Amino acid sequence: SAESIKATLKTDQGKNTINREIYGQFAEHLGSCIYGGLWVGENSPIPNINGYRKDVFEALKDLNVPVLRWPGGCFADDYHWMDGIGPRDKRPSLRNNTWGGTIEDNSFGTHEFLNLCEMLGCEPYVSGNVGSGTVKEMAQWVEYMTSNEDTPMARLRRQNGRDKAWHVKYFGIGNEAWGCGGNMTPEYYSDEFRKFNTYLRDQPGNHLYRIGSGASDCDYKWTSVLMDRIGERMNGVSLHYYTVAGWNGSKGSAIKFDNDQYYWALGKCLEIEEVIKKHKAIMDEKDPNHRVDLVVDEWGTWWDEEPGTIAGHLYQQNALRDAFVASLSLDVFHRHTDRVKMANIAQVVNVLQSMILTDQEGTGHMVLTPTYYVFKMYAPFQDATYLPMTIACDTMKVRHEYFTPMDAQKANGYRNLPLLSYSAAKTKDGQIVIALTNVSLDKEQAIDIALEGTNAKSVNGQILTAKNVADFNDFDHPDRVKVADFKQAKLKKNVLSVKIPAKSLVVMTLK
Ligand code: AHR
Repeated sequence: SAESIKATLKTDQGKNTINREIYGQFAEHLGSCIYGGLWVGENSPIPNINGYRKDVFEALKDLNVPVLRWPGGCFADDYHWMDGIGPRDKRPSLRNNTWGGTIEDNSFGTHEFLNLCEMLGCEPYVSGNVGSGTVKEMAQWVEYMTSNEDTPMARLRRQNGRDKAWHVKYFGIGNEAWGCGGNMTPEYYSDEFRKFNTYLRDQPGNHLYRIGSGASDCDYKWTSVLMDRIGERMNGVSLHYYTVAGWNGSKGSAIKFDNDQYYWALGKCLEIEEVIKKHKAIMDEKDPNHRVDLVVDEWGTWWDEEPGTIAGHLYQQNALRDAFVASLSLDVFHRHTDRVKMANIAQVVNVLQSMILTDQEGTGHMVLTPTYYVFKMYAPFQDATYLPMTIACDTMKVRHEYFTPMDAQKANGYRNLPLLSYSAAKTKDGQIVIALTNVSLDKEQAIDIALEGTNAKSVNGQILTAKNVADFNDFDHPDRVKVADFKQAKLKKNVLSVKIPAKSLVVMTLK
């Protein structure tokens, strides 16, 4: 039609693979992420499989989780893994100093985590304790998890009921070392990394991918120093970026917001692209051969805790707005998939921008959040070949404020928010996947995409939308926001014509 946006997609010109690890999750000992979320224990009235919540497990199994990060976050640098092994009734109960002072009974430890990863068929990503732990403790942990030989730690593991070593690929050497992980300078942390890393020995048959504790937001100096001083000793350097309205005062409600706050959040979310580009530029200069990956191992929305919930537990609701933060962020990661090899949304259950919320009263209900559905709809992008595409859509002037403490980076004012976000990829079996998010609150957008290099015959689509962008799912209305079939896509003479309704996300598969 006359007003439709025209674009071209060259389906045979893809180069980079979208690592499935970009769809990674994060589970910290924080609030009810582990206890009441993933784990209820074998004696719970809530249906469980060996202590794992059955409904949550099944929902995650359905999501094709590629990698799960654990036990933190800030908790990781306060965690001593030996507290979480052996008979559960003998494990010490301790105070979770980082998150609300909750008593942690250590019933979920190394065995429970690694077995869960095996059941989910995902890679474990273990975060080691640099801040308050010792080199010996960390080295022993790696031996405990991955040695199949006749070594002290392997023997201890066998005594605790696990004969065969687990496969552990991803290992984080500290977390937020500039803050809760020890308040270090980048120079000091780099030396610590080198020291700890020396003794993290690969056990026969298991090769560790070592991740350095990276920058928050636009702390480019941190990345620069680590690239100089640690360099190829690390396989990946992390980056944390939250869609958050500052670290002091109110962060705003997850479900009560006006149009200005809605558009602000999407602008803030997209800021991650500038941040990634600048970290990448530093890495490109210091590591032109791409030996070190960028690992965005914490990202997502961070709102005020829901009224009436426990302080420090970071329990927040999840609206259609959060779903758009997810799809826009995933689109950004796809665009930078040449360097961004993993990302872990914070967090998987009951904490921050979660996939799943479970009933805090223990009646055993669970809801899937709008963000869950984005991960589900985007699953075909895992390990697909990224296809570059440009769609010249309308933009909108939105409020733009930096709230991060990096004063030098302050750029208050306005920014142009593109009203459409998109991604395209080719799956291993030759299907073309296209995702389009129309973030406009009131304008439908019509798009014609001319497809080159394919003769796809059919298109199948799904849509995620709701009456309001503040709509969310709760135990009384678990299906207020959910996926539906999308029938408005037409494929004719290699042109895909779609009309994307206002405030909706559409994912289509062509074959
Ligand atoms: O995800 C919540 C917290 O945010 C993590 O523990 C920490 O690493 C970050 O500051």
